[in-house]
Amino acid sequence: MADVKNKLYVADNLDVLHGMNSNTVDLIYLDPPFNSKRMYSAPIGTAKGVVEAGFHDIWNWDDDVDIRLESFLDSNPHLFAYIDLVGHIHGLAMKAYLTFMAQRIIEMHRVLKDIGSLYLHCDPTASHYLKIILDWVFGKDNFRNEVVWSYRRWTAGNKNFQRMHDIIFRYTKSDQFAFNVQYEPYGDWIKKDYSYTDKDGRRWRWHTVKGNRYKVYLEDENKGVKLNDVWQIPYLGSTAKERTGYPTQKPLALLDRIISASSNPGDLVMDPFCGCATTCVAAQNLHRKWIGIDVSDVAVDLVATRLQYDEGGQVKMFQDFLPLKTLPIRTDQTKLTWDKKQIREHFYGKQNGSCNGCGEHFTHARHFHIDHIHPKSKEGGWVLENLQLLCGSCNSIKGNRPMEYLLKTIKARRSQQQIY
Ligand SMILES: C[S@@+](CC[C@H](N)C(=O)[O-])C[C@H]1O[C@@H](n2cnc3c(N)ncnc32)[C@H](O)[C@@H]1O
Ligand SMILES: [Zn+2]
Repeated sequence: MADVKNKLYVADNLDVLHGMNSNTVDLIYLDPPFNSKRMYSAPIGTAKGVVEAGFHDIWNWDDDVDIRLESFLDSNPHLFAYIDLVGHIHGLAMKAYLTFMAQRIIEMHRVLKDIGSLYLHCDPTASHYLKIILDWVFGKDNFRNEVVWSYRRWTAGNKNFQRMHDIIFRYTKSDQFAFNVQYEPYGDWIKKDYSYTDKDGRRWRWHTVKGNRYKVYLEDENKGVKLNDVWQIPYLGSTAKERTGYPTQKPLALLDRIISASSNPGDLVMDPFCGCATTCVAAQNLHRKWIGIDVSDVAVDLVATRLQYDEGGQVKMFQDFLPLKTLPIRTDQTKLTWDKKQIREHFYGKQNGSCNGCGEHFTHARHFHIDHIHPKSKEGGWVLENLQLLCGSCNSIKGNRPMEYLLKTIKARRSQQQIY
């Protein structure tokens, strides 16, 4: 692991994930937008001065759903049928959100090591629907915990019980996984149980095993009580010392627990929605390697500052990371040795002779162009999973761009044709 550099990507996490080798990450924590129908924004100070930080959490089908959906639908028809059904109950925004999440969860599962774990942070807006997607992708038997993060904060409204918890789902990729039991100090409730005090003031209680009674001293159980799945960790107040100003920043204490429980020093931890990089800071402090990804320039700029300077703005905490705009390229797929004719014929059969963009049918494979689904200049490679056939017109529209551009253009042109 010594040669793995910590990395911070400014990009859509789906593009980064597509370029990562399978089976490489030990632990993934993700805290995506929750489908809260809000804009999160706040003015914050960065190395470039005060800027507006934030991201949208309002979803719609056209802007948020990557049209690589087409291949997603083909390979996961049941999953898509489920998302479609939820769309009927909750509307298109939820459908768009769940599709966005499902595409990414599938890729996260792929890059996770077989012994790896994933923690998905969400809230009851979408938790029930996300759980089913996770069960689908990870297998229901690999569901390990629903952690409730319980906190106190100001809330409005009197017609409901005050909403004061988030949900964190924990999944593993198999039944072999890292898990270090965590402890927390005994609360008053357990101390009451130690109802005897000896002459030296030490508290103890009786413990009965198979009819035999033993004295158990409170101080002998000094590790504390094994952590349960309801975590009382204070919400980050506006004056908290670790506060960066980034909206939705999570407390380091939360990430410390997750990383300590499900990884070991030297392991690789990834946060694909890293915001102001709470996970990266916690991972660094716990001697893990890390990858952070965020699509927002502002978030990443803030992260760079947070990672390099302490609160005084002087001392460099750690600089040992690469801020990257270029996407990774997979090296674990075997390159094709077929010639272009063979490739055309293979895909001509697979696509039933039709263009993957406009759907037009051609009588011969030679009428098609071979296209890299993820453009060559990005993460796409000369491997079967990344190739398709397009007609000449679609190929020139798409050029070096992703599929969503082509499909949106075709859609726009068709709707214009309907108007005229
Ligand atoms: C809830 S915030 C994460 C906050 C983070 N846990 C922290 O402590 O700062 C969600 C983040 O996801 C980012 N995001 C949204 N869509 C993304 C995408 N497709 N790829 C990468 N990041 C994305 C947003 O810019 C935002 O910073
Ligand atoms: Zn076409």
